[in-house]
Amino acid sequence: MHSLHSPNFIYFYTMAIQRFQGSSVQLDFGPLTESSFPQKLAQFSAQKILILVDENTQQHCLEYLLTSFEQLAHAEVIVLPPGEETKSIDYALQLWELLTDYEVSKKDLLICLGGGVVSDLGAFVASTYKRGLNCILLPTSLLAMIDAAIGGKNGIDFKGYKNLIGTIQQPDYIYMDPGFLHSLPWPEYLSGLGEGLKHSLISGLDLWQHYKNDVAFAIENKQQLSTALLWELIQVKINIVEQDPFEIGVRQVLNLGHTLGHAFEARCMESEPIAHGVAVAWGLAYEAQIAQAQGLLDQDAAQELFDFVRANYSALPEIAQDAMGLVPFLNQDKKNQDNRWRYAALKSPGSYLLNQSFDLAQLKAVLKS
Ligand SMILES: NC(=O)c1ccc[n+]([C@@H]2O[C@H](COP(=O)([O-])OP(=O)(O)OC[C@H]3O[C@@H](n4cnc5c(N)ncnc54)[C@H](O)[C@@H]3O)[C@@H](O)[C@H]2O)c1
Repeated sequence: MHSLHSPNFIYFYTMAIQRFQGSSVQLDFGPLTESSFPQKLAQFSAQKILILVDENTQQHCLEYLLTSFEQLAHAEVIVLPPGEETKSIDYALQLWELLTDYEVSKKDLLICLGGGVVSDLGAFVASTYKRGLNCILLPTSLLAMIDAAIGGKNGIDFKGYKNLIGTIQQPDYIYMDPGFLHSLPWPEYLSGLGEGLKHSLISGLDLWQHYKNDVAFAIENKQQLSTALLWELIQVKINIVEQDPFEIGVRQVLNLGHTLGHAFEARCMESEPIAHGVAVAWGLAYEAQIAQAQGLLDQDAAQELFDFVRANYSALPEIAQDAMGLVPFLNQDKKNQDNRWRYAALKSPGSYLLNQSFDLAQLKAVLKS
């Protein structure tokens, strides 16, 4: 039996640890107290340990960590403001300064306890400080568990563009305790389901059908997905990262929905911010419309996906539906080649074409329709 205590809840659940130890990804999924986390911490008994949180994970997740693992009793805790704006050079700079002032050495340990913002920023700082500080990720949001924490892509936004500066370096270990999800606000859970949608489409018809039904039930009842389904989604990402850790080939499929998704998210960031996973869900829906217009995806499949997103997510802000407003963000996309906007096109669930492109006229047509 595993108990998860925080000021706001006491949550009991049992689950066997699922472990993956590949050449890139090292991960335990299940109750933290039953994972190899305590043994891992023991390796750092003579070192400094720092825990990076944001104000929300400080409030909801930190106490459990500090009270369950005595090795962490004297850890330094660094608290960030929550939200995408924290994934910035200003906060990276402050963290580098703090590590320097605290005389942190390469052998010390940074634990990132939070969603994708904490893990993207924290792991970026860890990968650059003294050319690589030990780093363990403890994702606490659905999105970070099924996606952001896996695969070693670390980074910050820059000049309003998503993930412009970053590194690819795997963390030393990832511990995913689904108990943390208990305090995650529902809109953030919905956002995570957007990346889950992508994984289910990449995997194939079986997982897509299963996912569609379970998500419809989860949303209707405001209930979380089963840990078995979470593990399936996590494995989709692990399998791709293991095949192609540096995104030379197959890993590009994880950009499905992200060419437009990142443009939507960045376009709205200043005036009407939308959650990353919501932007990705709409990116998937509109990129499917483009693939259909290009004759790559059949109309029924594109429409089914569009209807699914429309039924489960609030509409995109109007500024995101103005094609010209998206152009500067699409022009900064890291995948661009020969001045073409690249995207991964879905052909059918489980089947896709990498390195496809679309133009402004095609974008205008789908946004208008
Ligand atoms: N590195 C990658 O491969 C990768 C992949 C996908 C997304 N991302 C990035 O991840 C980020 C989005 O991640 P996110 O959705 O986790 O955002 P986030 O880190 O901002 O978390 C969302 C919100 O939930 C709160 N929160 C997190 N866990 C909580 C918990 N257990 N209880 C209560 N509140 C909690 C956070 O404080 C925040 O307010 C984006 O910046 C995106 O670009 C990175």
